[in-house]
Amino acid sequence: PDRALIVAVTGAAGQIAYSLLPLLASGTVFGPQQRIKLQLLDVPAAESVLKGVCCELEDGAYPLLDHPVLYTSVADEAFAGADIVVLLGSFPRKPGMERKDLLAKNGTIFRDQGQALNRVAKADAHVIVVGNPANTNAWTLSQFCTKIPKEHITALARLDHNRLKSLVARKLDSAVSDVHNVIIWGNHSATQYPDVTYAYTPQIVQGKMRAALGGDSQLASEVIPLIQKRGAEVLALRKLSSAMSAAKAIGDHLRDWMFGTQTENEIVSMIVPSDGSYGIDKGLMFAFPVQCHRGGKYRIVSDLRIDDFSRKYIETTLAELRSEREEAMRLVSKMC
Ligand code: NAI
Repeated sequence: PDRALIVAVTGAAGQIAYSLLPLLASGTVFGPQQRIKLQLLDVPAAESVLKGVCCELEDGAYPLLDHPVLYTSVADEAFAGADIVVLLGSFPRKPGMERKDLLAKNGTIFRDQGQALNRVAKADAHVIVVGNPANTNAWTLSQFCTKIPKEHITALARLDHNRLKSLVARKLDSAVSDVHNVIIWGNHSATQYPDVTYAYTPQIVQGKMRAALGGDSQLASEVIPLIQKRGAEVLALRKLSSAMSAAKAIGDHLRDWMFGTQTENEIVSMIVPSDGSYGIDKGLMFAFPVQCHRGGKYRIVSDLRIDDFSRKYIETTLAELRSEREEAMRLVSKMC
C-alpha cells in the first residue's frame, strides 16, 4: 500500500489512547507494510497533554508513521478524509449522575461527531465506538452520519470477549489460543451475556463447554457475573478503568474486521446494528457473534440455537438496550 491509511482517534489525550496509539503506529493492527497518518482529537482543555502525546509519537521514530501527527480540538480537522475512526472520547459518568443525564451529555457529543464524520470522513470509513455507553453512543452517531453505511458503524465488545476467552482458558488450564467461539451478547454493561455454549477447545468439543465449566448453576453464580463485573473489578483495583486491555481489544477488533478472522469459522463478538437475527430489533446496536472476511466485511452468525438459559440473559440485556435507545431517541428527536 503506497497511500497512508488515515486513522482518526478521539479522546486521544486519555489513557486508552496512550496504550492504543503505539499499537497503531507500530504496525501491530494494520500490518508491517501499511503507512499510517494519525489525526488526534481531544477537548481544548487537554491540548497540552495531547501535544505531549504527539511529542512521544515523534520520539518513538515509528517507521510506518507519517509526520507531522495532526492534533486538534476541531472534529472536522480530525475526521478529514479518515479511513478508520476510533471514538474513545465521551463524557464520563460522575458520582450521583443519572443515566438520563449521561445519555444526554453523550447524545450531544455523538450527534456532533456524527455530523462531522458526515461532512468530512471517507464515505466508506470504518468506525468503532468505545466511549461509554458504547452501544447507544454508536446508535446516536449512526442517526447523524448517514453517508457512511450503517454496517460500518460498530462498537467494542471485544474486551468482554477477550476477558471471557482468557477466563475459560485459565479455568481449563489450556492455552488462550486453543479456546474458540466464546460469545458476548448485548450491551457493553453489567447486563451483557457472556456465553460459552458454542465454545470449544481441542479437548472439549462444541456442546460440552457448559458442563466442562461446572454446569449452568456454576455459570450463573460465578463465570457470568465475573465477566459482567470485570470492568468494575479492574476499576476498583487500579482506580482507573481498563486501558491496556481495552487498547489490545480495539486492535483485535480492527484487525479482524479489516483482514478477516484467523480461520473462516472463528466467531468473534462485535457490537453492530442488528439485522433482526435472534429477535433483536433491527438497527439496535447489539453485541453479536460475527465472522469477519477480508476487506472490512462481517456477517452476523444468525443460525445458533438459543436455549432457555441463554434466552433469559439475552432478553435482559435487550430490555436494557431498548430503554437506552428510547431515551436516546427522545433526545435525538429534540435535537433535530
Ligand atoms: P479517559 O478519561 O482517560 O480519556 C477520555 C478522553 O476523552 C479525555 O482525554 C477527554 O478529554 C476526551 N474527551 C471527552 N469528551 C471528548 C469529546 N467530545 N471529543 C474528544 N475527546 C473528548 O478515558 P479512557 O480510560 O481512555 O476511556 C475512554 C472511554 O472508553 C470511556 O468512556 C470508557 O468508559 C470507555 N471504555 C469502554 C470500553 C469498552 O469495552 N467498550 C472499555 C474501557 C473503557
